[in-house]
Amino acid sequence: MTSKRPIVKAVVPVAGLGTRFLPATKATPKEMLPVVDKPAIQYVVEEAGAAGITDLLFVTGRNKDALENHFDRVPNLERTLLDKGALALHDELMRIAELAHIHYVRQGNPLGLGHAVSMARPHVGDSPFVVMLGDDLIDAKTPILPSMIEAFHNHGGSILCLMEVPDEDIHLYGCAAVEPTDNPSVVRVTGLIEKPNADEAPSNLAVIGRYLLQPQVFDILDAQEPGRGGEIQLTDALAKLAKDPSIAGGVHAVVFKGRRYDTGDKLSYLKSVVQIALDRDDVGPDLRSWLTKYLASGQ
Ligand code: G1P
Repeated sequence: MTSKRPIVKAVVPVAGLGTRFLPATKATPKEMLPVVDKPAIQYVVEEAGAAGITDLLFVTGRNKDALENHFDRVPNLERTLLDKGALALHDELMRIAELAHIHYVRQGNPLGLGHAVSMARPHVGDSPFVVMLGDDLIDAKTPILPSMIEAFHNHGGSILCLMEVPDEDIHLYGCAAVEPTDNPSVVRVTGLIEKPNADEAPSNLAVIGRYLLQPQVFDILDAQEPGRGGEIQLTDALAKLAKDPSIAGGVHAVVFKGRRYDTGDKLSYLKSVVQIALDRDDVGPDLRSWLTKYLASGQ
């Protein structure tokens, strides 16, 4: 039996420079790029809230002030909207500022994802916690955190999220070696490799940016040598937890079949905007008919 204590804290690393999206990200953090009318990071915060996570720690870096401003109150603007009778917009701004308790820590020296997560140690303490990567947008229609939390209550240890990707894309991700469990959507993770070449990949199951981790990972991260790209890799620390279940109960993973976008990648970002807009009641129907005509016109 594992603890049924709710998981309430998430760590969100957002210190990345966004070089794949320059020049748009020269003065604007990549997490603030809009997906329809909300910055990408707001979807992540809303996803956390929907899964019962009330406390978020953003691991930030230089030039990320816009993130802090976005989730803060703006009394002047709120008053102006009220005076103008723009009540819906006013309420939306208030809702954003109240989505979660958001805390911030600076990464300082960007030594890798594992290093960013290790910055969260004093905030997280001794309880299991979630890590949500700011670039990974999970469509709210196909949430994954509730299944990961359920797998955690059933299996204990740490829980990852895996997704099948084409063989030629596995070098972009952490890759897992797995064994089946009694539950067809949960696997046991026996090994992990960060961004393997196709010929050394143990599967086509890619690690997606949602993790439910045991606090013992911090000790491992503190001793972790740089790995792929000379960076301290979270995947390498998780490989140790997977190999030796006596450390913190081993590692399982939920295999995700829903919609996920990498908003740091141009094509995936564009797909996120189109698909999420098509699903919306306000702009969806008009966009669909325009898109259908546009594509049919062969322009
Ligand atoms: C990170 C992780 C990688 C994971 C990926 C998911 O890589 O290191 O294991 O598969 O996120 O988005 P990054 O995309 O930050 O290079």
